[in-house]
Amino acid sequence: MSFNKRIKIKKLLENDHIGQDATIMGWVRTKRSNKNVTFIAINDGSTINNYQVVADPALIEEDILKKVTTGACLKINGKIVASQGAGQQAEISASSIEILGEADAETYPLQPKKHSLEFLREIAHLRIRTNTFGAVFRVRHALAFAVHKYFNDKGFFYIHTPIITASDAEGAGETFKVTVLDLKNPPLTDQGKINFKEDFFERETNLTVSGQLEGELAAMGLADIYTFGPTFRAENSNTARHLAEFWMIEPEMAFYDAQDNQDLAEDFLKFVISYALENCKDDLEFLDKRAAEEETTKKADQRSEMGLIDRLKFVVENEFQRITYTEAIDILRNSNHNKKKKFQYLVESWGVDLQSEHERYLVEKHFNKPVILTDYPKDIKAFYMRQNDDGKTVAAMDILFPGIGEIVGGSQREERLDYLTKRMEEMNIPTEEMWWYLDTRRFGSTPHAGFGLGFERLVLFVTGMGNIRDVIAFPRTPGHAEF
Ligand code: 4AD
Ligand code: MG
Repeated sequence: MSFNKRIKIKKLLENDHIGQDATIMGWVRTKRSNKNVTFIAINDGSTINNYQVVADPALIEEDILKKVTTGACLKINGKIVASQGAGQQAEISASSIEILGEADAETYPLQPKKHSLEFLREIAHLRIRTNTFGAVFRVRHALAFAVHKYFNDKGFFYIHTPIITASDAEGAGETFKVTVLDLKNPPLTDQGKINFKEDFFERETNLTVSGQLEGELAAMGLADIYTFGPTFRAENSNTARHLAEFWMIEPEMAFYDAQDNQDLAEDFLKFVISYALENCKDDLEFLDKRAAEEETTKKADQRSEMGLIDRLKFVVENEFQRITYTEAIDILRNSNHNKKKKFQYLVESWGVDLQSEHERYLVEKHFNKPVILTDYPKDIKAFYMRQNDDGKTVAAMDILFPGIGEIVGGSQREERLDYLTKRMEEMNIPTEEMWWYLDTRRFGSTPHAGFGLGFERLVLFVTGMGNIRDVIAFPRTPGHAEF
């Protein structure tokens, strides 16, 4: 007989199993005993809810019960019975308990008391067993599934773009190098530079910062595609919003202009958030309470007015505010915040890049809802964005979310070969190396557009966690690559 004849706790809680024999397996959360009976709360990861095991010392040996400690892993056989106690309708009355893995009470790092999120980050290999991280990763899964469902239902094709590449799509130069050369003694060219011709790919390569450029190639044949893969950025930003390794979703659509792109992005975000609201009720209720508790530790002016679930519903039910960069600059420049010098970076002239304090002011103070900011100055955006007729701006869009700032970056792409080549030359992007990208404009070019959603920023928003390191299982940030 197979070992895994267990029923998941989520399933047990879904309908009435009273009178049935069952096997459950999971980790001990708590144990309490009185003279006659021992109660064990078991969690098996399928749901935030624990299941109550009732162990009668007349049936279960003392030696076994001693090993039932917080964190130990158990297999329980028994009968599902109606519960006498408050708190649950049914429980399992154990006929046998097998200790699958002991957890020494003295040395087990996860004690029943509350640990700080910072401490839990240091034991990321165990934090997945806590209520908070269980909830976060179940929600993360639901969101990933919703992403695929949304695009699949719309007839988009999932493209796997390369992780190792020779291009720096965003042109920010923040790439991790990929090499097999001997770092102590690399081959050199006549000019004394590292000779990458002798490297594995016979050229300089790096980890991708975005799948967009390859995504565009695919859209020029399949029309509607999306990528969902890991991306890597060696930016040294130690913030609660940045990771060195994060996951990005990048849809790319032929026959879309800037407005079509904005409509899709808004619809998509609303869909995935609704999906979580519908499918992660227990976890979101738990996270809502957690976030509310955390709010009480903040200063009054930094607390958010809405609870987590209300905030998610608000985003789903309301139209995003759409404004241009130029309008945003006017709002910021004339704001009391700016006049009273409350911004760290004062907004003085058209053309400056927006800092996250400005983005958050627009979203959280001025409009109080998600904002789609469009038509940025071309000098602060990537080479591939479509140039507007004013000669100054490009058809960019950033979507800004409350508490997060930028969650999406995208644009209509420059489909005109002459405009694109000229812009690349101005920005010192080698047009010969990018011949394959330019070929799409040479042969059968068409208006097209796309965007990138930072998956962890989405998970951060939906779970109400405060730090991006707490929504990816094993975060990679400057100085941290443990586990
Ligand atoms: O705005 P970005 O740099 O846009 C692109 O990479 C485009 N190629 C997307 C496209 O048009 N296909 O990045 C897109 C999103 C950001 O809005 C942000 O949500 C997220 O990726 N992001 C990060 N998330 C976590 N850590 C980082 N270091 C991030 N950098 C960007
Ligand atoms: Mg961006």
